[in-house]
Amino acid sequence: MTYEEFYGEEYRRLKAAELQVLEAIAQYSGRDEQRRGERSIEYCRSRIKSPESMMQKLKKRGLPVTREAALTEVHDAVGIRVICSFFDDVYRTAEWLKSREDFEILEVKDYIAYPKESGYRSYHIIFRILQGAGQGTVVELQIRTIALDFWASLEHELKYKKDVENDEMIGRALRKCADEIASVDLSMQTIRDLLSEKAAV
Ligand code: GTP
Ligand code: MG
Repeated sequence: MTYEEFYGEEYRRLKAAELQVLEAIAQYSGRDEQRRGERSIEYCRSRIKSPESMMQKLKKRGLPVTREAALTEVHDAVGIRVICSFFDDVYRTAEWLKSREDFEILEVKDYIAYPKESGYRSYHIIFRILQGAGQGTVVELQIRTIALDFWASLEHELKYKKDVENDEMIGRALRKCADEIASVDLSMQTIRDLLSEKAAV
């Protein structure tokens, strides 16, 4: 099934919403880099959830497998991932997003401060676009560091390729990797803080 077949007329609005958010981020990122002389955001990835994956999610949640349910009950038809270098960039970017008047924040999940059972760490913001071509669209934005993204990508691939969801030993091993990666991220943040203190003296 194609995207248009599943999302119908709404597909154009979803694409417009995706573009609108990416443009807002690019603008912010440019301004931020000029102001601070350092880049907060490395890059973004985005996608509209595929019909297959959306139908699977609706089924799994016991919801009707319809366009209507996809657009009202599920929050990640439009998904945007923002990859930053350091922890503080993640939080700075999140604060910027929350301060915008054209985005209504619906939910914030700080899986960096409170990692998931799997070890997954990322800062999630679910919001509604209030103005422009994407008006009314709900977007799930995930913000994390390069290192956390590395873990999330590989863990997703491993789980996706093999049915290891409930394998306890592998789960523990992956969680250990996640903790180690988070610890490296913290060290990198500390080094950055030390360097910028030195630069300020
Ligand atoms: P879904 O997991 O999407 O059904 O939604 P939810 O309501 O459970 O929200 P949650 O915040 O748990 O997850 C939202 C998204 O975060 C997921 O769709 C994934 O992209 C990502 N995510 C959550 N947990 C994990 C994890 O353990 N590993 C990886 N790689 N990604 C995760
Ligand atoms: Mg989940």
